Amino acid sequence: MRIRVLGAAAGGGFPQWNCNCPNCDGLRKGTVRAQARTQSSIAVSGNEVDWVLFNASPDILQQIRGFPALQPARSLRDTGIRSVILMDGQIDHTTGLLMLREGKPLELFCTDMVHEDMTTGNPLFNILGHYCGVNWHPLPTAAGSKFEVPGGEHLSFTAVPLKSKAPPYSPHRENPHEGDNIGMRITDTRTGKNVFYAPGLGEIEPHLKPFLEQADCVMVDGTFWTDDEMVRLGISKKHARDIGHLPQSGPGGMIDVLDPLRASRKILIHINNTNPILNEDSTERAELARHRIEVAFDGMDITL
Ligand code: MLT
Ligand code: MN
Ligand code: ZN
Repeated sequence: MRIRVLGAAAGGGFPQWNCNCPNCDGLRKGTVRAQARTQSSIAVSGNEVDWVLFNASPDILQQIRGFPALQPARSLRDTGIRSVILMDGQIDHTTGLLMLREGKPLELFCTDMVHEDMTTGNPLFNILGHYCGVNWHPLPTAAGSKFEVPGGEHLSFTAVPLKSKAPPYSPHRENPHEGDNIGMRITDTRTGKNVFYAPGLGEIEPHLKPFLEQADCVMVDGTFWTDDEMVRLGISKKHARDIGHLPQSGPGGMIDVLDPLRASRKILIHINNTNPILNEDSTERAELARHRIEVAFDGMDITL
């Protein structure tokens, strides 16, 4: 299977349009060694022709321009994107759907909970009904339920519910439901190799452990380095854990979670623009390197 990182940043992207944090300011001025990143999305293919899009980022048009495999090649109106899977109903993972409105009905997989958000608080499915339309496939989260998707040749998918956070506009923002956020095991049925993808991951619950332990590659929540990162910068009153993201540093943080895993690739994705790991010369980035943890970037291409 091939995995292409279309966008490695969290909501807002890097640099964020209105942000003067040390990273965003330093990137604009050229004083910080770092790479710009668009908002969170990956594409996965089992045959190098048909692609499954995970999340539809507000930056999707730029992402498609940067990745010819998704561009029209077969007929007058066309795309390599055959199915779309949503990991949650957040703005950075969904609003790009509107940019796909000129195409065929979207073969779209998400949980009942995300479907509720997308027809109420963030009613993109209703809006798209006036354009291409959405062919919604309820995404199963019951333990071990595998599913397949159009264009997912040689690929099998297993979703796992996890604790992160429903979006602010969700009718049940403060009342978490199973399926608000998911992680996904994607298996290549020819080789048996699998990647575990979870761009929003707030807590390592026991049922997640086998997914992490059995993965050949993990791509997980890299939003924040510390729980109080945005508070310390004076940007927000919210802590990482309040908005459903496990920070990397400290006891029980993501580094501790990743250290014992056998996966040959351990990759952080969905990185907030405030996170010091974006600075390639930072001590935090060096610490990740010592733990053999990689930082995803736009255009990162993984063959598994
Ligand atoms: C999140 O996952 O918490 C988001 O990136 C927040 C946002 O998009 O504003
Ligand atoms: Mn996000
Ligand atoms: Zn910033």
